[in-house]
Amino acid sequence: MKTRKLGDSDLHLTVIGLGTWAQGGGDWKFGWGPQDDQQSIAAIHQAIDSGINWIDTAAVYGLGHSEEVLGKALKGMAQKPIIATKCARRWDDQRNILKIQTKDSVKEEAENSLKRLQIETIDLYQVHWPEPDEQIEEGWEAMNELVQEGKVRYVGVSNYSASQLERISQIKKPTSLQPPYSMIKPDFEQDLLPYCQQHHIGVVAYSPMYKGLLTGKITRERMAKLALNDHRHNDPNFNEPKLTQNLDLIEKLRPIADDLGITLAQLSIAWALRWPTVTSAIVGARNAKQLQETVAASSVELPTNVVEEINAYLEE
Ligand SMILES: NC(=O)c1ccc[n+]([C@@H]2O[C@H](COP(=O)([O-])OP(=O)(O)OC[C@H]3O[C@@H](n4cnc5c(N)ncnc54)[C@H](OP(=O)(O)O)[C@@H]3O)[C@@H](O)[C@H]2O)c1
Repeated sequence: MKTRKLGDSDLHLTVIGLGTWAQGGGDWKFGWGPQDDQQSIAAIHQAIDSGINWIDTAAVYGLGHSEEVLGKALKGMAQKPIIATKCARRWDDQRNILKIQTKDSVKEEAENSLKRLQIETIDLYQVHWPEPDEQIEEGWEAMNELVQEGKVRYVGVSNYSASQLERISQIKKPTSLQPPYSMIKPDFEQDLLPYCQQHHIGVVAYSPMYKGLLTGKITRERMAKLALNDHRHNDPNFNEPKLTQNLDLIEKLRPIADDLGITLAQLSIAWALRWPTVTSAIVGARNAKQLQETVAASSVELPTNVVEEINAYLEE
């Protein structure tokens, strides 16, 4: 699979990375309903067999569960993929999510993630959210100390604005940014894309299929059957009035994908990857079969007229 260099680092990431949020399961505030760990492990092995060389997770996905499953799936592997995880979202005994990035907390989280993942160094460690605002600098200093201590190879951030990137760059420029980017959430193109291009910050774009919506397999019937502890019930894009707008968009995209002989999922991922500044798209998969479909997007290049047609629909 094609690779792109992540910012100024020496990491060459495949243009598709595997995301493991859904593999955290349903038993927490931002869960995805029940998830079978064996299916998650099969998806991870399928990703590696398909040529994907990096995997994204986070401590908070399933409150440690996603990292544990990933650690189990990779245990004993001679050549492990590049592993990216995140900090700054913790949880208490009642499973409430806490926003914290004090120095002690970031360091403690890194140790916990290393244990759950059963590795000695985290290849890419990312601050999950720029919160709380007053701890942004303290958290970023801790991240850079982790690099000096050899616990982490590169550090990046997620969900930061251009001005927040500017703030932490006064301490040290981040290797990467992990923003949301899809046809349903294209805001990244406005400030962040030119900022990352100008400053050589790597971009790993998340939810390129908008949590499965852009695969065309989400319907009103499927929404009605979605497990009650699937957080998509609380996402406005999966609820009216936006659901109807999104399903209308998908019906406009369907003939475009058909003409190209690709699926809607592949069209969505290829659309996000059309910018050279986007190093890789992080694609979620709950089982090996889903990944077999989406991984094929790595070799799709969309003709300019197709991109223009899609963008005209998005403007509407
Ligand atoms: N930094 C952050 O704040 C942040 C936020 C979000 C995501 N992320 C990262 O980005 C990754 C990807 O994002 P995402 O998981 O939100 O969204 P995504 O990649 O846009 O969608 C993944 C979901 O789509 C469905 N799907 C995948 N392949 C499919 C196929 N071939 N056919 C039908 N459905 C398919 C699956 O859910 P169903 O089968 O249940 O429909 C899957 O969980 C995450 O796992 C995580 O690593 C990071």
